[in-house]
Amino acid sequence: MITKKRGWIPFSRARPVYNLATGKATASPMDQITLIKPDDFHLHLRDGAAMAAVVGASARRFARAIVMPNLVAPVVSVAQAEAYRRRIQESLPEGAAFEPLMTLYLTEDASRDEVDRVADSAEVHAFKYYPAGATTHSAAGVTDLGKVMPVLERMAEKDIPLLVHGEATDPEVDVFDRERVFIDRALAPLTERLESLRIVFEHITTLEAAQFVAEAREGVAATITPHHLRLNRNAMFRGGLNPHHYCLPVLKRERHRQALLRAATGGNPRFFAGTDSAPHAVGDKESACGCAGIYNAHGALENYAAAFEQEGRLEALEAFASQHGARFYGLPLNAERVALRREAWRIPQRLPFGDSELVPFMAGETCPWKLVHEQ
Ligand code: NCD
Ligand code: ZN
Repeated sequence: MITKKRGWIPFSRARPVYNLATGKATASPMDQITLIKPDDFHLHLRDGAAMAAVVGASARRFARAIVMPNLVAPVVSVAQAEAYRRRIQESLPEGAAFEPLMTLYLTEDASRDEVDRVADSAEVHAFKYYPAGATTHSAAGVTDLGKVMPVLERMAEKDIPLLVHGEATDPEVDVFDRERVFIDRALAPLTERLESLRIVFEHITTLEAAQFVAEAREGVAATITPHHLRLNRNAMFRGGLNPHHYCLPVLKRERHRQALLRAATGGNPRFFAGTDSAPHAVGDKESACGCAGIYNAHGALENYAAAFEQEGRLEALEAFASQHGARFYGLPLNAERVALRREAWRIPQRLPFGDSELVPFMAGETCPWKLVHEQ
């Protein structure tokens, strides 16, 4: 199933080729892989000049993305989401094909009517639940799930998925335990109370979260980021405090990373790609109170490939990145394909970001897989 495009390398003739459809390498080592163009089921694009600086990197690697609504004034209505979607499309580099899949920020003021408008909209696909205060731009989030129960019930009736930032915000709870505690206190009861509500446990970071999702009732899924597959929490402290490896939920121990790798590469359709690429200007990260968020769009697919290869499971990449999420969201698989070539490249130290710069994930390190660009 090689798509031939102008300037497109005929991969079937490139040697050696790793065939993701059959799972067999026609020669070894694998130098090039092609896959259905993936989707990113969790992405922060920001707005304005900042967005214009980053959206192209996502569009090159992903055909569609679930776009997070945590702008400084959160996206709370279908009308606002549609306007944001137009701004995204206007900021795309010329010729880029990229479909933003919009979400609304769940607040305590959300109405059942807004849920109905989401159900009627072809462009808005889900609500995002941030526990108030859990992460960047979450002040407008929900303090108590009980307050939004009528809205959640309507979502269940209309089959609108709830995307969950799963961390307890109780200041007594250790930062590294927040995801685990959230499962017990909030997520497990919610999945039982609303049996038909589809839920995506976003950017999971722990063994407990992977286990919860694997064993949960039907309709519960999870996204996993490249950075949680590539790094454990030591990365934040190696050689000094490293703010560019700080995100929420925070990186965890190696045994959790191992569990995430097993979940992502294991072929279970409940687990799929969501990069949580979350750009911040360098000065906002390298600060006395540095922002949470890692920008990884410049190398997201490449880093997923590196993680899968380390696990000896490169053949599982396409299902995780290009199939499972689309099926969960009821979307067709993408017709386009992308290719990665085995070629070490150095990740830049800085990238432009509006009127500032950002430090990309793994800045200055080499990445073993390179995106093959269409001409
Ligand atoms: C995200 C951001 O910067 O918007 N930050 C992060 O650390 N992941 C918000 C989020 O997804 O939690
Ligand atoms: Zn996020």
